[in-house]
Amino acid sequence: MADALLELRNISKSFPGVQALDDVSFSVCPGEVHALLGENGAGKSTLIKIMSGAYPSDKGEIWWKGQRIVYNDPLHALELGIGAIYQEFNLVPQLNVAQNILLGQFPTTRWGSVDNAELHRQASDALKQFDFHLDTRLLVSQLNIAQQQIVEIAKALIRDLRILIMDEPTAALNNVEIAHLFEVIRKLKARGVAIVYISHRLREIFEIADTITVLKDGKLVGTKALSEVTEDSLITMMVGRTLADRYPPKDTVQSEIILKVEHLSLDGALNDVSLQVRKGEILGVAGLEGQGQRDLVRAITGAVRTTSGAITVDGERQAIHSPHDAIRSGIAYIPDDRKNEGLVLMRSVRENIALPSLFARLRSLFMVDEPNEQRFVRQLVDRLGIKASSPMQVTRNLSGGNQQKVVVAKWLGTNPKVMVVAEPTRGIDVGSKSEIHHLMRELARQGVGILMVSSELPEILGMSDRIVVMSRGQIVAEMSGAEATEEAIMSAATRGISSTVSQSVFASASSG
Ligand SMILES: Nc1ncnc2c1ncn2[C@@H]1O[C@H](COP(=O)(O)OP(=O)(O)OP(=O)(O)O)[C@@H](O)[C@H]1O
Ligand SMILES: [Mg+2]
Repeated sequence: MADALLELRNISKSFPGVQALDDVSFSVCPGEVHALLGENGAGKSTLIKIMSGAYPSDKGEIWWKGQRIVYNDPLHALELGIGAIYQEFNLVPQLNVAQNILLGQFPTTRWGSVDNAELHRQASDALKQFDFHLDTRLLVSQLNIAQQQIVEIAKALIRDLRILIMDEPTAALNNVEIAHLFEVIRKLKARGVAIVYISHRLREIFEIADTITVLKDGKLVGTKALSEVTEDSLITMMVGRTLADRYPPKDTVQSEIILKVEHLSLDGALNDVSLQVRKGEILGVAGLEGQGQRDLVRAITGAVRTTSGAITVDGERQAIHSPHDAIRSGIAYIPDDRKNEGLVLMRSVRENIALPSLFARLRSLFMVDEPNEQRFVRQLVDRLGIKASSPMQVTRNLSGGNQQKVVVAKWLGTNPKVMVVAEPTRGIDVGSKSEIHHLMRELARQGVGILMVSSELPEILGMSDRIVVMSRGQIVAEMSGAEATEEAIMSAATRGISSTVSQSVFASASSG
């Protein structure tokens, strides 16, 4: 293309045991939003790391404004105006927000020391310019994932970029923040900045992209204008087949209560929350982000101590003061912050998957049944399509989505009575997403009670037998999965307790 800003030609890249990219060409023009799509492990992150100079390629050429270039160091691309926000954040937890945003370019005083007042002024200007609100004095270690994402974005925006590359920037953002990010993208686009955008959420692609490129198993499937594709044709390009039923059919719920939560309170975060999950039931917990959903699941699974309340599993009152207590009570937990809470990154796929099941077995037998463990791990790896060169591969080297699948697999294998899952398919590709949904439904059919927190409304609607909506640490509405609509959930979530919607659904829930 004549007016391409950046052009990658015939790029190949391999890691030990895997050809991550095989002869891939890709280009991006000024003012274009170019989405990069494909299944987990397809090679998307690897390709953008080559674009941004983080990795060298084994073969192929990079052209910048019509001239061949070779990056001589990781900062070279940034100097040209190519900035990237990676899937795994690149922030320094011990530094504050301002220091992270201006990392490497701190303003100095006449005497050569860091000018702190100026540092905070520049950082808050950058945040304000794009309408982000965040105290620049907070340490990054104090921020939640969404706030960290905002710091990453601001950090990229204060540099005068020609190309901004974003690897799943919305994975941790709520709907309001996503809408906000899209405003930022439109502003940049209007200034002629090119955007390379990776996401597994097709809705976003149709909202923001001009062009799409699909990778599969490290190979280029094709590049098309957005107007040339439909959701179905995109899925076919990515997965190689169509997906008939994206959500499994719902089933009858048994009458027996498996999880009972009564009057749970947690200082400032949860206020007298009571709920029940029946055997075979999937209870969806919806709401705007940060309304106590995370505290609720952490309280049930022993990750935080509650100030009051009671938890009963299968008729027995449980004292859950630690994650260990939760496992012993038959509660499995798939956390949303999988990097920190869910995985031992330096250990193999096999060890991670077998870990929680090992606990149970070690307790009873004091020995590990090797062939059985291998079979067990292999089944889960196959079922979820975990892409690893071998079960012995260190999880740190898996693609982002494949790491997530390992966390999900590890808990699906524990035969729990209750599963508490937070954002079960965040960062997971469309095909595997459907596979995880089917597995969850299968577990429910076997009698497991599932409590699922999700910020994706289609997932809440597609999966839940019953839905509760949280607002400001309380449950403000309850509705049956069959009756619920996105509008009803949203209006309950935003209007809170006084909502007439919530009252009418409370009434219909108790009469049905
Ligand atoms: N540092 C590394 N060492 C070894 N293998 C790697 C490394 N980085 C990536 N890989 C492998 O290269 C392949 C492509 O990974 P990549 O991260 O590019 O996938 P992706 O398309 O970004 O997937 P996702 O949607 O899950 O983020 C995967 O098989 C992955 O395991
Ligand atoms: Mg990736």
